[in-house]
Amino acid sequence: MAELIDGKKISQELKDEVKDKVAVLKEHGIDVTLAVILVGNDPASTVYVGNKKKACEYTGIISRSYELPEETSEEELLKLIKDLNRDNSVDGILVQLPLPKHIDEDKVIRAISPDKDVDGFHPESVGRLSIGVRGFVSCTPAGVIELLKRSNVNIDGANAVVIGRSNIVGKPMGMLLLRENATVTICHSHTKNLKEICKNADILVVAIGKPKLIDASYIKEGATVIDVGIHRIDGTKKLCGDVDFDSAVEVAGKITPVPGGVGPMTIAGLMNNCYQAAVMKHDLAK
Ligand code: GUN
Repeated sequence: MAELIDGKKISQELKDEVKDKVAVLKEHGIDVTLAVILVGNDPASTVYVGNKKKACEYTGIISRSYELPEETSEEELLKLIKDLNRDNSVDGILVQLPLPKHIDEDKVIRAISPDKDVDGFHPESVGRLSIGVRGFVSCTPAGVIELLKRSNVNIDGANAVVIGRSNIVGKPMGMLLLRENATVTICHSHTKNLKEICKNADILVVAIGKPKLIDASYIKEGATVIDVGIHRIDGTKKLCGDVDFDSAVEVAGKITPVPGGVGPMTIAGLMNNCYQAAVMKHDLAK
């Protein structure tokens, strides 16, 4: 039976660390401020934004909320971002995705100053990660690295397999594991011999967006399995991941549950990025 990696507990530790560091900045007269922009009223996005604001409150980060109507034009949104880029009291800018169809997401992401890009989605942030220069890292993969390190999983020299190649999770996940000296394989829908490749993984990160696709037959005995997926099981209120947990837990060495694994780490990572934005702005980085 695998040991559970408790994302709720680890994210709480991380948030408490951010809270302490934000308090120290406050003692020196420095506030940390995150601008959160939500366009429209997509129910899932509204919940996510609410959770982000709650986490700001917990950690002592000031959140400034911009809730804009669905009809907001691309031009209006770009103007707001431009104003926030120039506003010296704002450390981080987060535009909740997805945006309404008439707005070009790519253009919006590029409009955010890389110095305030706490989501780590700007091409400059992605480039910095890939050449190993200090910058913002996408919150979910950054959270996965924290989960691994704080669960004493050895990354250096490990065979790490990532399933999924999205810009938000799969690709930055691969870069971060590489930065930690893992030997990295990124798999996707065109990969041949997926099972064989996964069976060789010491660390398997699954981010494919398909419920319960990965079962015990893909997992090496004792491997660490990180499940980034989250799905509602049809007709129920229950959640499941991309991994068939009941099967995988029998062979893995360590495994994240869904819910309570990777999910809570994303927001903790965002809080950490906001703190880092303030540190960089005030040139406090050592
Ligand atoms: N929508 C779903 N996940 C995210 C995220 O991490 N950041 C933003 N801005 N929007 C999202």
